[in-house]
Amino acid sequence: MCGIVGYIGNRKATPILINGLLKLEYRGYDSAGIATLEDEDITIIRNKGRVKELKKSKDLDKAQGTIGIAHTRWATHGKPSVVNAHPHIDCHKNFAVVHNGIIENHIELKKFLTDAGYTFVSETDTEVIPNLIDYYYSKEEESNDRLLKAVYRATQDLKGSYALAIISKIEKDTMIIARKDSPLVVGDGEGEKFVASDIPAILEYTNKIFILNDGDLVKITRDNITFFDEDFEKVQRKAEIIEWSSKSTDKGEYESYMLKEIYEQPNAIRETIGTRIVQNDKCDFSDINITKEFLESVSHIYIVACGTAMHAGVAVKPIIERLTNISVEVDIASEFRYRKPIVGDDTLIICISQSGETADTIAALKYAKKKGAKSIAITNVMGSSITREADFTLYTHAGPEVAVASTKAYTSQITLLTLLAIHFAEVLENEDKEIIDNLKNELTEIPSKVSIVLENSEKIKEFAKRVYKEKDLFFIGRGIDYAAAMEASLKLKEISYIHSEAYQSGELKHGPIALIEDDVTVVGIITDRRLVNKSISNLQEVATRGAKILIVTDQGIDEKIFENIVKIPKIHPFLSPILSIIPLQLLAYYISKEKGLDADKPRNLAKSVTVE
Ligand code: AGP
Repeated sequence: MCGIVGYIGNRKATPILINGLLKLEYRGYDSAGIATLEDEDITIIRNKGRVKELKKSKDLDKAQGTIGIAHTRWATHGKPSVVNAHPHIDCHKNFAVVHNGIIENHIELKKFLTDAGYTFVSETDTEVIPNLIDYYYSKEEESNDRLLKAVYRATQDLKGSYALAIISKIEKDTMIIARKDSPLVVGDGEGEKFVASDIPAILEYTNKIFILNDGDLVKITRDNITFFDEDFEKVQRKAEIIEWSSKSTDKGEYESYMLKEIYEQPNAIRETIGTRIVQNDKCDFSDINITKEFLESVSHIYIVACGTAMHAGVAVKPIIERLTNISVEVDIASEFRYRKPIVGDDTLIICISQSGETADTIAALKYAKKKGAKSIAITNVMGSSITREADFTLYTHAGPEVAVASTKAYTSQITLLTLLAIHFAEVLENEDKEIIDNLKNELTEIPSKVSIVLENSEKIKEFAKRVYKEKDLFFIGRGIDYAAAMEASLKLKEISYIHSEAYQSGELKHGPIALIEDDVTVVGIITDRRLVNKSISNLQEVATRGAKILIVTDQGIDEKIFENIVKIPKIHPFLSPILSIIPLQLLAYYISKEKGLDADKPRNLAKSVTVE
């Protein structure tokens, strides 16, 4: 949701800003704009729609400055339109602002400012910010830090969440940025500085990155970055040196990010395993300190997340329960704190979030912490907000995931959580060495098995051509196969706009089978050896009612009975979602492609959902 880019240096800002916005497109948006500081004034160019249209705008010739801010907006307050697009400027045209987040008290601030003589043109919550800065600037004494102080005073009035970048035609060599509950980073270059919501937007210019803490206010000039904490005290922050190459955020030879990321899964899983599996020894989790005493005191574990990350939780619940003997509940983050779950100091909460910025997941984590729970965050993004909240953080090393539809993050999350379950078992001195050794062996083989599945996509492409015009699809499975069915159904909805449902195969007869008629498509996932016959019976029940069937399986199912079978390599039942989801990610992708849709940027969706 909303992306911010900023530049201050000696180069022309516009190409850097536009390039950064293109890199942030994955976050989802409906309008875009830039503001640059010219000799006398601030030039603002905005449009509704894509950054590539903004890039073509003839007006961009007017934006020649070497300082600028830019934004992609995902509408919350006010429809997508030019006037609501960012940057916003105060009514005296002194301060331009881009904002990610929501200002909850914007109505009262607007009233206060209107009473003070300020006027407004947009329907946004953001427009109060430049006006508030102007108001406080006028109240501040002349000094080198007048703009900084005015921004600080303005932020003290804001309720809600924000990442802000501000330029001014009065203090021409300064950019001020601030963050509260919305991500923001600064990149340090030689005589130039870069600002962005996310590292990939500026990685081609510098890999020396400061990740802002919540409450940080930062004064940036061409040569200096000065940090102030939430109490407005000057503080030092340490730069991270980012090791991803900027190429990892390019599409490379692939037609889309999503396809690239699907095909990156063998490597993402390999990198996530990293050096955690140690030959003839326990898994290496020396980066967290989970003791036997603590685990013995845990009465239940909550896994809390949204969307695909939540599905990863559903997939690993049986492994964690089996290896620790501790009951695990998987919760949707947006529901968690409102249902008042039983949380205390005997609770462990594991929050999963690819982006590490999902507002609901972070809110759930804060709630559980307040009640005394210990917490582990699983994320893919270094220094993301969730890492600042959790007691311990574990990273999936999937590399940047750009496509809105999550793929490699899901399989990496299951991999990491399986390793964590093994670690818990080893800490608890669980006697079940056979299953632990089996899982370790299987995990090391998984990347090559995923490659095998990826090399055999022809059947899926063919099937996509047969079903892409359909209105409904069903995904069914039992036990862990149902976990994969849920994720397959979400992938299809997100990028093909086809309605689909996931059901436990055995549940069909209790209602949903009424929806099955001639030519409805049902996708069955069958990897649980104990349940093969029952699952086949369920599929036959829908086949006799006219359904078209596709089966994804590692079991020997008779191809005379079912014509469309996609075979995946044999796999430990606990790990099967890592393999069974792959053909179904591809199915969603190729259906979307047949329909001529942009799989990378599905309508209405944002990659990182930073509002509740
Ligand atoms: C995945 O395909 C979705 N775009 C979405 O469900 C996503 O998984 C969810 O918003 C959670 O995001 P997070 O992992 O970044 O917290």
